[in-house]
Amino acid sequence: MKPSNPSSGDTTPPIIRLESITKAFGGVRALNGISLGFPTGRTTVVLGPSGCGKSVMLKHIIGLLRPDQGEVWFQSQRVDRMREHELVDIRRRVGFLFQQGALFDSMTVGQNIAFPLREHTDISRADRHERVDHMLELVGVPGTARRMPSELSGGQRKRIALARSIVLNPEVVLYDEPTTGLDPIRSDVIAQLILRLQDTLSITSIVVTHDITTAFKIADTMVMMNEGRILLQGDPDLFRNTDDDVIRRFLDGRASPEELGELTNNFEGNDS
Ligand SMILES: Nc1ncnc2c1ncn2[C@@H]1O[C@H](COP(=O)(O)OP(=O)(O)OP(=O)(O)O)[C@@H](O)[C@H]1O
Ligand SMILES: [Mg+2]
Repeated sequence: MKPSNPSSGDTTPPIIRLESITKAFGGVRALNGISLGFPTGRTTVVLGPSGCGKSVMLKHIIGLLRPDQGEVWFQSQRVDRMREHELVDIRRRVGFLFQQGALFDSMTVGQNIAFPLREHTDISRADRHERVDHMLELVGVPGTARRMPSELSGGQRKRIALARSIVLNPEVVLYDEPTTGLDPIRSDVIAQLILRLQDTLSITSIVVTHDITTAFKIADTMVMMNEGRILLQGDPDLFRNTDDDVIRRFLDGRASPEELGELTNNFEGNDS
């Protein structure tokens, strides 16, 4: 069980803050004025329909995208104004599990996990090997260092990608859809891993997910986004008890009459 903590009154200082972020691509407004703090050492779960700006929001945190307006802060450092070489330090301290999970297919599992160590540290080859083996044990796929990613299941590949995103001992890990495509048991393994990383290494986690079961298992605090804005944020109970129609339907997996109407119209359109 997670300790019951942060309510909306949680006073844990944020390690990362977004201030009034807007971001458009051509005519498409992806973020429409997002202000959000991520409490240090806590797990924040970000929910919201496809296309509402979740991945775009995460990419601002490590400077992969820059805002049109607004500010991104990592502790007392202003991230959105940093030059590329300054961002290297932020990206060492913030691990990122990408939505596509992309491992390098031409590298072994071990080389994949060792990659950030080669890029960012000068530790010896022996130490690298030891660290890779330790990571593989931590994520529950020991002894796979010599395998190729193509020889592993989707769930195993997710865990390897997770190992790679935490190999540098980051203070924060961003997870974009860590359980998508996994069966409920494998999803639970990932959820338990996220909890363990928080417990043992005090990692701050920011988890984007459509997986409501996982969301309630791991969240200290939750955020619901819609159309580039924040609809609701607070502790999981606030979400369990909300009577906001959009959020209720999202959590329960129920389409609105309008959303179902689109489907009916399309079928009728195809008939004629
Ligand atoms: N690099 C880009 N260039 C142009 N448009 C983009 C780019 N990245 C995102 N978008 C647009 O910004 C909006 C938000 O995209 P985003 O990837 O953040 O959605 P999401 O909430 O992560 O959705 P999903 O749950 O499907 O992953 C979408 O309309 C998307 O098409
Ligand atoms: Mg996304």
